[in-house]
Amino acid sequence: MSSADPGSKPDSWSGEPAEFDDYAAEYEGGLDNPVKRLMSKSPDQFIAVKTRWLLRREPALRGGGLAMLDYGCGVGSLMRVLAEAGGRADFAGCDISTGMLRQVEKRWPAQLGAPPALAPQQGAQTPFADGQFDIATVSAVLHHVPVAERPAVYAELGRVLKPGGRLYVFEHNPRNPLVRYVVAHTAIDRNAILLDATEVRHGLLNAARYDLDTDYLMFMPPGLALLRPVDRALAWLPLGAQYVVAAHKPG
Ligand SMILES: C[S@@+](CC[C@H](N)C(=O)[O-])C[C@H]1O[C@@H](n2cnc3c(N)ncnc32)[C@H](O)[C@@H]1O
Repeated sequence: MSSADPGSKPDSWSGEPAEFDDYAAEYEGGLDNPVKRLMSKSPDQFIAVKTRWLLRREPALRGGGLAMLDYGCGVGSLMRVLAEAGGRADFAGCDISTGMLRQVEKRWPAQLGAPPALAPQQGAQTPFADGQFDIATVSAVLHHVPVAERPAVYAELGRVLKPGGRLYVFEHNPRNPLVRYVVAHTAIDRNAILLDATEVRHGLLNAARYDLDTDYLMFMPPGLALLRPVDRALAWLPLGAQYVVAAHKPG
């Protein structure tokens, strides 16, 4: 296998150093920020807000058999937290940082079975086939992608998604003042350029025909299970700390 083949061995990966290589070994989702730590002590609880939403939206993920790509998967937290919550899929992850990808297997618990197939990206490009995935997720990635390179990411996601496939873009919401404060004071976000849901929707529609809808997430601290119904009731309000743009590719 060449270094770009999905599922190739980490020791065969090569390429330019990426910004997140420096954070990989200690990566814990920006939880070094004291305000973020006040919201929850566990980085997984922030991810779990997204995976709970995903399992409500895609109940078939509990049954297995779907092919799912997490683009910019980092250390694999979204796939791992999803699997720990009962999500079953043929998972694949890619990232521009091989340092982050090398952490995926290290952090993947043996009881979850085989770890995801992994592939380093060459810029926005992945080695995956056209129409390979039923579902693709992009979580907290786009604000790290330079604005001029984002159209290439949207195009790549449209390419690897099956007709009828679904793409879910999770992002920090710049309309939430606390989010802007946290991002401005977190080391891993020092080069971040936030984007709102309107920019994501326009970017996606420039790349492919999609049916789109948007939910806002994380109005309440993610660890407070009792307040989850409040979060769900407010999903229409564009002030949550996170949002998800859901894009359905016509079949
Ligand atoms: C904040 S981390 C999020 C990781 C993971 N998606 C999660 O939710 O835990 C951002 C990730 O985006 C990756 N990234 C940055 N620029 C990228 C690009 N142009 N293409 C793909 N991934 C990129 C980084 O290497 C890093 O792993």
